[in-house]
Amino acid sequence: MSYLVLARKLRPNKFKEVVGQDTICTTLKNAIKSKRVAHAFLFTGPRGTGKTSCARILTKALNCTSSEDAEPCGKCENCLEIGQGSSTDVIEIDAASNRGIEHIRELRDGVKFSPAKCQYKTYIIDEVHMLTTESFNALLKTLEEPPAHVKFILATTDFHKVPATVVSRCQRFDFSNITTEVMVEYLKQVSSAESINVSESALHLIAKSSTGGMRDALTIMDMLISFSGDSLDDESVAELLGINEIRKIDALLKGIIEKDLDLVTDLFQGIVAKGHSITQLLTDLMKAIKDLSLVKSLPEKSVQWLHFYPDQYELYQELSGKTTVATLQKLFEIVLDVEAQVKRSSQASICVEMGLIKMCAVDSLAGVAEIVSILKNPDQVKKKRQ
Ligand SMILES: Nc1ncnc2c1ncn2[C@@H]1O[C@H](COP(=O)(O)OP(=O)(O)O)[C@@H](O)[C@H]1O
Ligand SMILES: [Mg+2]
Ligand SMILES: [Zn+2]
Repeated sequence: MSYLVLARKLRPNKFKEVVGQDTICTTLKNAIKSKRVAHAFLFTGPRGTGKTSCARILTKALNCTSSEDAEPCGKCENCLEIGQGSSTDVIEIDAASNRGIEHIRELRDGVKFSPAKCQYKTYIIDEVHMLTTESFNALLKTLEEPPAHVKFILATTDFHKVPATVVSRCQRFDFSNITTEVMVEYLKQVSSAESINVSESALHLIAKSSTGGMRDALTIMDMLISFSGDSLDDESVAELLGINEIRKIDALLKGIIEKDLDLVTDLFQGIVAKGHSITQLLTDLMKAIKDLSLVKSLPEKSVQWLHFYPDQYELYQELSGKTTVATLQKLFEIVLDVEAQVKRSSQASICVEMGLIKMCAVDSLAGVAEIVSILKNPDQVKKKRQ
C-alpha cells in the first residue's frame, strides 16, 4: 500500500476526534440533535485547523442513516460514499481554482434537484473568499432561500474578503489556532500510535514551529520522520526546524547588546561558515531586533502571537533589561544601512563586519522617557554615580 502522509491518514472522521475546537463541535452536534440545523454555514479560521474536516463530518452526520449522539457512524452507505468523495449528493467546490460565474450558475441550477440518496444535497465551497464579485452576487439568492433539501458549508482562511452580504446569510463558526499544550498532547498520541520515539520537549518545538495549524505540525512530523527514522532526538529536531539558526542570531544580538565584539565577530564567522547567506542573516537579525523591541514595549500576553521557541521569551526579557528602545531603533537603522550597502558592494562580508563593530559601539542611548526622568530628578543620577 502506498504511504499516506500523516495529515491525510489522520483526518478526523467524527466530531470527537477533532482537537481544540470543542465549542464548535458541541454547537454543531446540539444543532443536529435538536434538529435546528441552519441552511448555510461559514467556517472561518487559519489553515489546517479543521474546517474542511468539520465540513465533511457535518455532512456525514446530517445524512448518516445510523448516527448516534449526532456523530456519523462511518459505516452506512452515505457515510462511506461521502468519505470516499463519491457521493453525488455532496458537491465540493474549490473556489481557489473555480472562481468563475459558470460554476456558480451550474450550482444554482443544480440545487433544484432533490438528492439521490442522502437527505440533503450539500455544497461545500472551500476558500470561498476567492470567488469573483459576479459569482458572489449569483450565489446570494440561493444562499438566502435554498430549497429545504439543500445545505451550504462555506470555508475560508480569509474572512475579511468575504462580502458582508454573504456572511450575514450564514451561521458563522470561527476556528481558532490550536494551542501549544493541546497540540503537544495530540502529537504525543500520534507518535505513540505511530511508534515514534520523541521527547515532549521536541514535540513542543514542533508545535511552536507549526504556529497553531495541525496540518503544519503533522507535515513537520512527516518531514522529521523521513530524515531521522522513528527516533527523533531533540538536537536533530532543533537543527531540522532551523531553530538552531535562530538561536545563533539571538546569541549574536545578545553579544551586540552586551558590546562583546570579540564574541560577536566569532559568532558571525561561525554563522557564515555554516553557509547562512548574508542577506538571510541580516533579515533574521532585523526580525530579532524588532521582536526584542516588542518584548521591551509590551506585556507578555500581547506578544504571545510572536511564537517564541522555548526559552526565547526569557532570553528577550533578560536582554530588554540591558537596553533601551532608542538603542534598538539605532541598531535597526544600522542593519538597514548595512543591507543597502551589501546590495551595492562586492564585499558583503566586510560591510557586515563594519556594521557589527558600529553596533557594538552604539552608546546606550537613553529613551525620551528616561531623559525626562533624569532631567526631573538629577539627584538620582548623581547618587547612582557616587
Ligand atoms: N482540529 C484538528 N484536530 C485534529 N486534526 C486536525 C485538526 N485540524 C487539522 N487537522 C489535521 O490537518 C489536516 C487538514 O485539516 P483540514 O480540516 O483540511 O484543515 P483546514 O480546512 O482548516 O485547512 C487533517 O487531515 C488533520 O490531519
Ligand atoms: Mg480546508
Ligand atoms: Zn453513517
